[in-house]
Amino acid sequence: MQEKLQALQTEALEHVEQAKTLADLQNVRVSYLGKKGPITEVLRGMGKLSPEERPVIGELANKVREAITEALDTKKQNLEEAALNEQLKSETIDVTLPGRPVQVGGSHLLTDIVTEIEDLFIGMGFEVREGPEVETDYYNFEALNLPKDHPARDMQDSFYITEELLLRTHTSPVQARTMGEYKGNKPVKMICPGKVYRRDTDDATHSHQFTQVEGLYVDKDVRMSDLKGVLNQFAKQFFGEEREIRLRPSFFPFTEPSVEMDISCKVCHGEGCSVCKKTGWIEILGGGMVHPDVLEMAGYDPEVYSGFAFGMGPERIAMLKYGVDDIRHFYTNDVRFLKQYHQV
Ligand code: PHE
Repeated sequence: MQEKLQALQTEALEHVEQAKTLADLQNVRVSYLGKKGPITEVLRGMGKLSPEERPVIGELANKVREAITEALDTKKQNLEEAALNEQLKSETIDVTLPGRPVQVGGSHLLTDIVTEIEDLFIGMGFEVREGPEVETDYYNFEALNLPKDHPARDMQDSFYITEELLLRTHTSPVQARTMGEYKGNKPVKMICPGKVYRRDTDDATHSHQFTQVEGLYVDKDVRMSDLKGVLNQFAKQFFGEEREIRLRPSFFPFTEPSVEMDISCKVCHGEGCSVCKKTGWIEILGGGMVHPDVLEMAGYDPEVYSGFAFGMGPERIAMLKYGVDDIRHFYTNDVRFLKQYHQV
């Protein structure tokens, strides 16, 4: 038995030595060490041996198995190394080949404009808030002093989802939501950027979906002069120090008095030209002093608190700042358009 095992070892090591490929080696492994191989057979037959023989043969069989395993592993490593060297020799990398250009995307012009507006107002102490695009009739209209049959609802043709739910037509509902959250006993100073929706026929200056940035400042003793100061600061920082603003009377149901803000034309500086339609001024946004009813509905005592609000359209602002002639460019996503405003 001992001789048989010795002979097996010698034979197996020879086969290992002769193996030329990993597949050969695997065959050797299976035939000597596999379940049906001779070593396993010896170990299985141990029961039939005498108690004196058993430990001797057992030990030897294990040794033989270890020796074969070790030889197999070493040979495997050698074969693998040889294969790798062969591969390295046959493959060459031309490090002088130019790389493939990587197309890097950039943020959208509107995103940049909104971020810039946000930064300017954050600098003046405003916080940035958000509100839902699917809004209730209550917040979109009623809480803003526009009861159900109010004719001014026609100013903003709406996409209704149910009788009580619609796509918000402006970001003003976030005024009412924020004041409601602040429970009528602390100042509010926030802006809210977001998408709004109106039933308009799309053309160069209209889109059924566009962006607004709302502003609201409520505190004790807030005045119209504060509104003018903040807007003036914004206009000069955003459009340039040399630009002037003016406020014209206007109407919104949720502000009283209401204003529209114009900015002096950058082309003619107020002289009148084709860009400003000979007026010298370009309309930028709407605003006013928060209507006492709106304050009251949101839980603020209009005898104690006052506030101003405004709303602007980043598309319009971007169009003026960069001379974009069609609002649809913002949504049709022609990269040739988008790339012009992003130096990547
Ligand atoms: N929500 C108004 C609009 O969409 C703009 C506005 C906001 C006016 C706040 C006054 C105060 O036209």
